[in-house]
Amino acid sequence: MGGVNPYIRKVPLNRPDKPFKVTFVNEETNTSTTYLMDPSTFPYGHIGLDGSLLAIAEDAGVEINHSCGGVCACSTCHVYVQNGFKSCSAATENEEDELDKAPAVTTESRLSCQCVPDGSADVVVVIPKWNRNQVTEGH
Ligand code: FES
Repeated sequence: MGGVNPYIRKVPLNRPDKPFKVTFVNEETNTSTTYLMDPSTFPYGHIGLDGSLLAIAEDAGVEINHSCGGVCACSTCHVYVQNGFKSCSAATENEEDELDKAPAVTTESRLSCQCVPDGSADVVVVIPKWNRNQVTEGH
């Protein structure tokens, strides 16, 4: 499932103009996957915002829950951005509203479907343990 939530105001996104690395750390399995995000070959437009961490994870074969299909209507895609936070698009009010419903929110919290890195830094994303098991919405 994918698409666009028509009730969400769009934020301007800076697409990366050069390759950068995104490392996903899976807290549950204590493993990590590093993916080279090359904007010239990346398949934009398949899930979440264009070039979002969720879209990058999908292309990297890394599983992140995304119950609403990447349209900022749940909080199951909550991750921690440990490096490169400042290179990411700003969170919208809608994202912050959804994040309020997520467990264990920190200053590094983002919804991966709404968080778009601009490529000015390599990014490290931690997928929390509970992410893989949370399948219900609205809690
Ligand atoms: S997948 Fe639902 S908010 Fe990101």
